[in-house]
Amino acid sequence: MAHRERFVIGNWKMNPSTSAQAQKLLHAYRGLLRGTRGVKIVVCPPILYLPDLRRSYKGTALSFGAQDASAEVGGAHTGEISALMLKDAKISYCILGHSERRAKGESDEIISKKVGAALRAGLQVILCVGERERDREALYLATLEHQITAGFSDVSPELLRRVLVAYEPVWAIGKTAEDAMAPEEVHEMVIFVRKILSQKYGTRALTTPVLYGGSVEPANAQRLLTRGEISGFLVGHASLDPQAFEYILSAFKQ
Ligand code: PGA
Repeated sequence: MAHRERFVIGNWKMNPSTSAQAQKLLHAYRGLLRGTRGVKIVVCPPILYLPDLRRSYKGTALSFGAQDASAEVGGAHTGEISALMLKDAKISYCILGHSERRAKGESDEIISKKVGAALRAGLQVILCVGERERDREALYLATLEHQITAGFSDVSPELLRRVLVAYEPVWAIGKTAEDAMAPEEVHEMVIFVRKILSQKYGTRALTTPVLYGGSVEPANAQRLLTRGEISGFLVGHASLDPQAFEYILSAFKQ
């Protein structure tokens, strides 16, 4: 079987409200600093906290990522932060195409431009894809295929190793373990994602990590990991609870 890196990525979204709380939250992660062998832990806090948090945890097992980056390189784009700025701040990863950004109007075309800009700046990209809902005719598969094809349109085979896919069905996000996708279904979707990638990249796509996100909690992490054939998780609300996050990470030890 192809060797794939494994990841647990914490997406803090727009939390917590102060930098002191952010420091405290990350401090509570300290049990994880030794890391779990073979699993990369990436923390994605709000952009304002990133430089300070990264500095405090430099040289530890933690890596840091942003939750978004501009498709533009510079210029008159009020409120935007470029991938080059993130790289300059020594941030390694960047989530792109998260469903909460898509819901605010981000198109596949913009996301494709963002992916290209982030890769050119030297970042590792966590590309989020996932259907809003499931329909009996399985049109959601076409949506997903379009998201993947567009997301990778500016990714050359040489740059493929810097992209991770996070499959996140929108209907399963921000709920509880019972509402998350069943591991067997996750497995089917991982195969689907890989099939589309392999049409473009051939066997190179076998090493692309495909993560699952959407209500990953201590109660379902173990079975999602073992039966879902995934390379890890993108964790939202449970990443704000250090104990829950640690428990999710421990699923990799079994
Ligand atoms: P959740 O969020 O774990 O709270 O469902 C996942 C995400 O939005 O990335």
